[in-house]
Amino acid sequence: MDGNGRWAKERGKRRFFGHLEGVKVVKKIVKSIMMLNVKYLTLFTFSKENWQRPKAEVNMLMNLFISTIKENQNHFLKNEIKINVIGSIADLPENCQIALTQMIDATKHNTRLTLTLALSYSARLEILEAVNKILALKKT
Ligand code: IPE
Ligand code: MG
Repeated sequence: MDGNGRWAKERGKRRFFGHLEGVKVVKKIVKSIMMLNVKYLTLFTFSKENWQRPKAEVNMLMNLFISTIKENQNHFLKNEIKINVIGSIADLPENCQIALTQMIDATKHNTRLTLTLALSYSARLEILEAVNKILALKKT
């Protein structure tokens, strides 16, 4: 996801308004792809670099993740959506980790769409981890 802040600024609004609008767009995308029978969607939501943003924005985003996830529990269950998370989950605030773990567990048997959220993700870290896995394979 990208451009939420700029989208809001262009309309003379504050960045957080753009993030709220971003959630609405995600909901539309999920609805559309499900009609097309897409089975997997990964949303690159919050990168490791994003931690450098002002504290107020980071807090707002963390609270938005929690509230969006909780508000949509019934929707996930009714529409057979499985929630999955990639990235360094341990970096997230505890209440965020709890909400995510709870939702991952509640939706684990769903198979219609796997919705993966990349949180505290890092392309560099992913490459590093992949290379380390290959190196570990070579040693054995
Ligand atoms: C994407 O929009 C949302 C997150 C990173 C969570 P941005 O916040 O990157 O918006 P711009 O790119 O600054 O406009
Ligand atoms: Mg951006």
